[in-house]
Amino acid sequence: MRRKFIVGNWKMNTSRASAIELAKVVAAGVGSSGARVAVCPPAVYLEAVAATLAGSRVELGGQNAYFTNAGAFTGEHSPAMLKDIGCGLVILGHSERRQFFGETDEFVAKKAKLALENGLEPIVCVGETLQERQAGKTFEVLRTQLLGSLQTIEATHLPQVVIAYEPVWAIGTGVNATPEQAQEAHAFLRGLIAEKYGLPLSKSLVILYGGSVKADNAATLFGQPDVDGGLVGGAALDAKGFLQIVAAGA
Ligand code: PGA
Repeated sequence: MRRKFIVGNWKMNTSRASAIELAKVVAAGVGSSGARVAVCPPAVYLEAVAATLAGSRVELGGQNAYFTNAGAFTGEHSPAMLKDIGCGLVILGHSERRQFFGETDEFVAKKAKLALENGLEPIVCVGETLQERQAGKTFEVLRTQLLGSLQTIEATHLPQVVIAYEPVWAIGTGVNATPEQAQEAHAFLRGLIAEKYGLPLSKSLVILYGGSVKADNAATLFGQPDVDGGLVGGAALDAKGFLQIVAAGA
């Protein structure tokens, strides 16, 4: 039985003070059991949030990391650095990074490999654009992105990998995928994993849905057999709403 996992992706939002406050309320509200929970604040606030979360069961993740651990890469940070300040997770290949920063599947695959080598669980994001969906290319795009982004990952590491299906047209738009659309895509992704890594590993793989997850749609999305939780953007910035989403995963 896969445990539900709810991850808040704060993107480039919050101030130091509001990040600490948000983390404090989330930590106080998650209770001692239920869905697995993590938050991913902006990198510059990770340490402050780590201190706030200390002693709570809320996990901490970065939103990105580079594919080497040190060197002359101005502006980047490495998986080793994320690990060093208390992160256990890192989001990789988010569509905003693919779209605005030119990240390719190959680049994401290199980053995922190093993240795993440093003991971080990568949350590898895939998802089609509206144009691709309308052109009937959803499955083709998902296949290319998933297999491309995992090309460096051995079966032994797969249990530490989380996948997020995030249709680009649903991110930040208020238009979530229907539970049926999400289920169809998740089942397809799980099938690809079964082909590449075998059935048992595909059955234990956690696949999150992301794209306009809110308190009022979380329960039906998470109720789908292959939807194992959510990667939550906008709604993760409101502690009360985020906690309701976490509760929907219990
Ligand atoms: P959203 O973002 O919940 O604001 O749509 C999700 C994401 O991009 O991870």
